Amino acid sequence: MSAPKKLFIKTYGCQMNVYDSERMAEAMGADGYTLTEDQSEADMVLLNTCHIREKASEKLYSDLGRLKPLKAEKPDLKIGVAGCVAQAEGGEIIRRMPLVDLVVGPQSYHRLPAMARGEAPSVETEFPAEDKFDHLPPRATRRAPTAFLTVQEGCDKFCAFCVVPYTRGAEISRPVARIMAEARDLTARGVREITLLGQNVNGWHGAGEDGREWGFGRLIRALAEIDGLERIRYTTSHPNDMSDDLIAAHGTEPKLMPYLHLPVQSGSDRVLKAMNRKHNAAEYLRLIERIREARPDIMLTSDFIVGFPGETEQDHRDTLRLIEEVGFGTAFSFKYSPRPGTPAAERAEIDSDIADARLQEVQALLSAQQRAAQESMVGRRLSVLFEKKGRTEGQMIGKTGYLHSCFVDGPQLSPGDLREVEITHSAPNSLAGRLVA
Ligand code: 5AD
Ligand code: SF4
Repeated sequence: MSAPKKLFIKTYGCQMNVYDSERMAEAMGADGYTLTEDQSEADMVLLNTCHIREKASEKLYSDLGRLKPLKAEKPDLKIGVAGCVAQAEGGEIIRRMPLVDLVVGPQSYHRLPAMARGEAPSVETEFPAEDKFDHLPPRATRRAPTAFLTVQEGCDKFCAFCVVPYTRGAEISRPVARIMAEARDLTARGVREITLLGQNVNGWHGAGEDGREWGFGRLIRALAEIDGLERIRYTTSHPNDMSDDLIAAHGTEPKLMPYLHLPVQSGSDRVLKAMNRKHNAAEYLRLIERIREARPDIMLTSDFIVGFPGETEQDHRDTLRLIEEVGFGTAFSFKYSPRPGTPAAERAEIDSDIADARLQEVQALLSAQQRAAQESMVGRRLSVLFEKKGRTEGQMIGKTGYLHSCFVDGPQLSPGDLREVEITHSAPNSLAGRLVA
């Protein structure tokens, strides 16, 4: 037996990449690799990349450049590039950076161990006919009370700015039985909260355990029956896939957290049309109203793109007005960045300084809403799922249903405990409270 080999993974981008990195680590674990946090002691370095916004590939190339001395020192070091830049650029990465040994796309990473052994090509960016999930080892032992679970991948919506349909491919839903098995497995290993992941997660559908076609709401209700699983979340959703059944589940399923990330991207109908979003502002607002009817205390979050080609001052005002009307708990806003190969990349960009100024305005409004939403928690009694010890003696940190971090004095608590907490204080990035007896 040779000594265990060390794998260092750097993960960029979204939660789906975090999940993929875990699964790649587990797959390599079956080949004797253990994870290290110290790049210098690694036998293999894997960069799991993101391509959603600008300069992602430049960031990759500069990180690769910084690996040159390590590779010179350890010629056997294997360097792999995974994720969406790998998918988009393929073998070009090795041509530009010969120190790279392996390039693997998001749909092919079950082949990573064979690639590392030299038993498969060094570039795998096909969308293979087999399902990677059928070729990955079961979930490894884990102790954290929260976990991600990918249920859906890819996107068929083709928003004009977005690379996802090209890098992640067509929409695929994982089968019910596989999702249920993975969720049961995670729960048996101590997981109390599962976040279901997909680029278009609420578009998930599949043949149910009862032989009928299930939508995403039905899947959530089936998962909620798992004993020991206390909380369910999901991200990211498209407004057009919020079915009646899913909205209803927010009202009837207590394990489904009162938190919904529902990107709208813009408040201007003109811009939404140019973005190929296939919904307008009024439809979005009506949808929010229906979701709030089902679950009045729900917190809404969103994504915005500012400075899309052709965006006028009036369009920008429309976005600010939509934000005012909804009142978000938190939201992400990004300056538009043209992505090669997308339709919007062919269009003339707006003035960069104007886009920067608009972004600042959007972010100022969203930050004010975020502060207000967090402060409104003071005085409420909320369930908190505890995750780890705090810095001071006896302190524990957990998350409320709204994903706010919450500190309490609770020396008797363990990670995975779910307790009712009265919120007493709101600090810039967290809440504090006391356990309700
Ligand atoms: N430019 C800026 N932001 C983008 N996003 C996706 N593509 C782009 C782009 N080309 C944002 C969207 C999406 C989030 C994940 O990233 O708001 O919802
Ligand atoms: Fe990209 Fe989301 Fe639009 Fe799909 S729905 S193209 S993932 S922004």
